[in-house]
Amino acid sequence: MSIRTITEQELKQQTQYSQWILKMNQERAQFLNRSLGYHIITFGCQQNENDSERMAGLLDEMGYQAVATPREADLILLNTCSVRENADDRFFGHLGIVKNIRRDRPDLIIGLAGCLMTQGEAVAKIRQSYPFVDLVFGPQDIYRLPELLYHRLTDTRRVYEVGEDDTLVEGLPIHRARKHRALVTIMHGCNNFCTYCIVPYTRGRERSRLMPDVLAEVQDLVANGYKEIMLLGQNVNSYGNDLQKDDPTQPDFSDLLAKAAQIPGIYRIRFMTSHPKDLSPKLLDTIALYPAIEPHIHLPLQSGSDRILRAMNRHYTQAEFVAIAKKARALRPGLTISTDLIVGFPGETEEDFVETLATMEQVRFDAAFTFQYSRRTGTPAATYPDQIDDKTVRDRFSRLTALQNEHSLASNQALEGQLQEVLIEGRSENDPFVLSGRTAHNRLVNFRLPDDYPFPAEYRHTDGTIDTARLEGQIGQVRITRAKTFSLEGQWEQLLPWA
Ligand code: SAH
Ligand code: SF4
Ligand code: F3S
Repeated sequence: MSIRTITEQELKQQTQYSQWILKMNQERAQFLNRSLGYHIITFGCQQNENDSERMAGLLDEMGYQAVATPREADLILLNTCSVRENADDRFFGHLGIVKNIRRDRPDLIIGLAGCLMTQGEAVAKIRQSYPFVDLVFGPQDIYRLPELLYHRLTDTRRVYEVGEDDTLVEGLPIHRARKHRALVTIMHGCNNFCTYCIVPYTRGRERSRLMPDVLAEVQDLVANGYKEIMLLGQNVNSYGNDLQKDDPTQPDFSDLLAKAAQIPGIYRIRFMTSHPKDLSPKLLDTIALYPAIEPHIHLPLQSGSDRILRAMNRHYTQAEFVAIAKKARALRPGLTISTDLIVGFPGETEEDFVETLATMEQVRFDAAFTFQYSRRTGTPAATYPDQIDDKTVRDRFSRLTALQNEHSLASNQALEGQLQEVLIEGRSENDPFVLSGRTAHNRLVNFRLPDDYPFPAEYRHTDGTIDTARLEGQIGQVRITRAKTFSLEGQWEQLLPWA
């Protein structure tokens, strides 16, 4: 296995396949008298979402059109996740649904991509129990989608290809799923090998994109009206480490973040995930310096027990974590901190668990993703002898979430009565006049538009009613009226301009 940058020549070859498929699809569309549709179902993290956007970009070039439901599609891709067992279960549930669709539609093409496809056990299960699957490939092989699909379409054979190399590709097309927030993967893979985690085995070693490539993408997004940019990596704090090995003058994450924050016209820049062991003082200074950088850090603690942190291979202590959180909040007043927590890691005693609760009391996270430990085949922790029984895990989990819910609610309550700036993200399905958006601190706010607000003509339909769809991606000022555990309710104040 090695790290490999995909060459222009290799990409040209893929473009050739893509063009052949386009031609075939055009002929087929003419014959059917309708265009060919694709539908992608994405599981897992935002990096997977970003991968799905790349696959969508490739499919667009091959003449497929995105359709809203799997039933309308000629090609369905499932982009899988394997981080916890319930992610696997959800995927196999969906595969069952797809199987039913396929029963009436033998020409439907079904492809499986993503992290689970790098796991031999899962692929063996698919071969055996889901023989209707046409394509299987991993996150490293996305750029080869045209080639794999071409073989399926011309040789009508099933294609299972999970490459060995850790690839780095520039220049793939993209079809972005969101209008206002753009995902930008800045690095692939993970080198940390936390002992519970499957990701280093599914996404390979860390490899950073070159800073000029990332900045060009961000610049382009800003020029195209994107207000919010989300920089993604499993551990963004180690961005550039691999590049610096060959060239010590290469930038680190602080350099990249500072450069991105200074792009003219950028409204807000987010980033995740930060690993506490690599969060440098330089990065904290950068976060404090640039207003466009979100006043929020996602900083996974996982456990508050030093003994468990060691067993998890996390490389920081409880005290170090608390000190970083304190320093970050001091440097950027009002900064929110969210986290990830796992209960029931092998060997976790009641004392260890109580230390996690105590750390939560000390830090008071503004929000948290809480997980029950899930045993992943292939990870070191899966072989540890002292696995915790389900009942204890469930019991700790409910105590953990109860405490976090208190903290989340208190964090939100502190905003009641205050004015907040929100980037409007969407509309309620039931009522288009109920909008939602996020504050700079990454808090979700729901609010209703008043009938009598004097919106300019460009935000109105010809009959004078407000075109709420036009407001998505705009910035509004909202007064917080009520705090809930996972969101806020607000009252519309005014539309804010953004050049
Ligand atoms: N690279 C990121 C995200 C990793 S996956 C990070 O390091 O934070 C997101 C979260 O899933 C992790 O932070 C961890 O809390 C959780 N997770 C990963 N593997 C898990 C497992 N086997 N069981 C339970 N939770 C897990
Ligand atoms: Fe998994 Fe740890 Fe890497 Fe995050 S840092 S992806 S938890 S191994
Ligand atoms: Fe899942 Fe892979 Fe992301 S395992 S969480 S999709 S990195």
